[in-house]
Amino acid sequence: MRKLFFGLILAVALVWGAAAAQTVTVAAGAVGQELELVQAAAQRYMEANPGVTVNVLDTPDLADDRLGLYLQFFEAESSEIDVYQIDVIWPGDLAVHFVDLYDYGAGEVVDQHFDAIVENNTVDGRLIAIPWFTDAGLLYYRTDLLEQYGFAGPPETWTELTEMAQTIQDGERAAGNTDFWGFVWQGNAYEGLTCDALEWIASNEGGRIIEPDGVITVNNPNAIEVIELAASWVGTISPTGVTGFAEEDARLMFQAGNAAFMRNWPYAYSLGQEPGTAISGLFDVSPLPAGDVPGGRPAATLGGWQLGVSAYSNNPELAADVALFLASYEEQKIRAVEGSLNPTIQPLYEDPEVLEAAPFFGALFDVFINAVARPSTITAPNYAQVSSAFYTAVHDVLTGAEDAETAMALLELDLQAMTGFPTGTP
Ligand code: GLC
Repeated sequence: MRKLFFGLILAVALVWGAAAAQTVTVAAGAVGQELELVQAAAQRYMEANPGVTVNVLDTPDLADDRLGLYLQFFEAESSEIDVYQIDVIWPGDLAVHFVDLYDYGAGEVVDQHFDAIVENNTVDGRLIAIPWFTDAGLLYYRTDLLEQYGFAGPPETWTELTEMAQTIQDGERAAGNTDFWGFVWQGNAYEGLTCDALEWIASNEGGRIIEPDGVITVNNPNAIEVIELAASWVGTISPTGVTGFAEEDARLMFQAGNAAFMRNWPYAYSLGQEPGTAISGLFDVSPLPAGDVPGGRPAATLGGWQLGVSAYSNNPELAADVALFLASYEEQKIRAVEGSLNPTIQPLYEDPEVLEAAPFFGALFDVFINAVARPSTITAPNYAQVSSAFYTAVHDVLTGAEDAETAMALLELDLQAMTGFPTGTP
């Protein structure tokens, strides 16, 4: 009897253990349609792999909040999450918490992906994460309103944008839409502001905050000038509340038809074009404006997300299989067509179905290829602190708490203390 009892317990434990081992939990983003897309992909994986359960855990929208959550799991060495969706800026900071995907078959597929992203995700020769989708900042503009107000095309410089936004806003308000704004963007104190502000600075010949060779350049007149210009938008062509805006706040306002221009990532395109939205068929995307200085040219911050397998996973093999499936050619194609999420696999930019759904993947290919990286590799494992110091300083200027000259001088001192890097000109 006792033997039977223990036998039963053992059998239950074995079955339970096997079942647990066949479950993979993926921590994923939920901005726009992201969650629905990854849930559908998980379903496809499960249909092709009976006996495996793929759970999707949705995580906070703001990159900083998501990182905070991940760090709690890592600190506990938790095996609860097997696959993490990680930002393009995190491989350096988080490398120790991920397995080397080359140990789990990534070598066979890695060459399909853009070299620069693979390089970004490689730390000490280890592939920390497989590229999933890439991102670059774009200017969304209302084609109908540009025509109505006599503008031939989207603005080429920030000054032009400022003037066009003001003209359209004045006109729309006079016509009765008191909720209308000229320009919406990401002004909250978080990673998104680092992206927007890097675009202003890089487009104005003001460098990249910290250059790839480890020189702090952010305290320069071109950077100061363009941050002052951005501060002048707050409460004029942009709502005062823009200093609390993230991606979704800007998208919802633009999508409701209440803004002439928006800075956002590609995901907002397919949502805006969905039949039934106020702006479907009434907007397009272009490169962001250039700075007004001689030599100024458009700059888009490089964004994007990868899939890494936790070093604390109980089943890294299966987890890696799920990650590689999610990042595969077929799956990236579905995400591109349904969610205008940019593939990391070049031939998908020539795929007719992809181009039909997101024509700008072809037209703006150069923008995606030439996007400006944030200084995450050179400052790893301290990028998160560097970025936080940067966006806090910029946010202080946007809210009027500090002038740009003082803010950049203080930031330079902070960055020096944080990194030990020298200062120089961009
Ligand atoms: C987007 C980008 C990511 C960036 C974030 C900032 O999700 O892909 O790289 O850090 O926006 O909000």
